[in-house]
Amino acid sequence: MLITPQHLIQWKQQNRAIAVLTAWDYAIASILDRAGIEVILVGDSLSMVALGHETTLPLTLDEVIHHAKAVRRGVKEALLVVDLPFLTYQESWQQAMHSAGRILKETNAGAVKLEGGYPAIAETVARLVQAGIPVMGHVGLTPQSVRQTGFRQQGKSHEAGEKIVAEAISLEQAGAFAVVIEHVPADLAKTITESLTIPTIGIGAGIHCDGQVLVTSDVLGLGTWKPKFAKTYLDLNALITQAVQEFGEEVRAHKFPPET
Ligand code: KIV
Repeated sequence: MLITPQHLIQWKQQNRAIAVLTAWDYAIASILDRAGIEVILVGDSLSMVALGHETTLPLTLDEVIHHAKAVRRGVKEALLVVDLPFLTYQESWQQAMHSAGRILKETNAGAVKLEGGYPAIAETVARLVQAGIPVMGHVGLTPQSVRQTGFRQQGKSHEAGEKIVAEAISLEQAGAFAVVIEHVPADLAKTITESLTIPTIGIGAGIHCDGQVLVTSDVLGLGTWKPKFAKTYLDLNALITQAVQEFGEEVRAHKFPPET
C-alpha cells in the first residue's frame, strides 16, 4: 500500500502511532521501507550525517534532490517527505513554490517539509497546499535557526510555549498535513497534539505525540555524537570498525582472498 498524507490524518483519528525515520541513500531507504516504516524523510540532517557539515545550513537544493532521487528508488510504500533546505523557501512564497516544485517534479516525493510557523511561513504553506503540494511543518527547535537558538530545548517558558502552540495551529490552518515537534517539554507537545486534528511527529518531545521521528544514523549508532533524546538501537560504528579492521588484517596477512 502506498502511504499518503491522508492515511496519517486517519491514523491520528484511530490512535495508530506513526514511525518516521530519515534516509539519505538507496540502501538505507530500501531497508526502512521493507521494514514497514510509514514515513521516510530525506531530512536536511543529511547535511551533517551524510555530507559531514557541522549544521544543516550549507545544504543546497541540488544536493537534497540528488539524495532524494536515490532514496526514491528504494521507497515503494512509505510516504517520502523531503526537507526544503535553509534559504530555499524563506525569501518568498514564490521561492518556496519553485523549490518545492522542483523537489516534487525531480524526485517524485510525496510531500515537502519546512521549518517555522511564523505568519510568512504559514502563508507560504497555504500557497503550496493550494498549488497541490502536501506540506509537513516543523516547530519547536528548528535546526535551520541554530545560529539564533543553538541546539537547546525550546518552549520552556509559558510565553515561549504559547508561541509554539500558536505556530502549530497556524500551520494546520494553512493546510499542513502533519507537524514535527522537535525538542520541547513533553507537556507542551501534549498540548499541541491535543489542539490539532493533524498528527504531530515528535523528536525529543515526549511520548504524547501521534508519531515519533529519529535520525537513522543515531538509531544505528553510525555517528560519533547524538542528541541526548535520541536512542541508539544498534552500535554499527563498532561493528563496522571491527569488520573493516578484520578485512585489513586478513589482507596484510595474505589470508584474503583464500587460496583456491
Ligand atoms: O532533518 C531532519 O532529519 C529532521 C528530523 C530531525 C525531523 O528534520
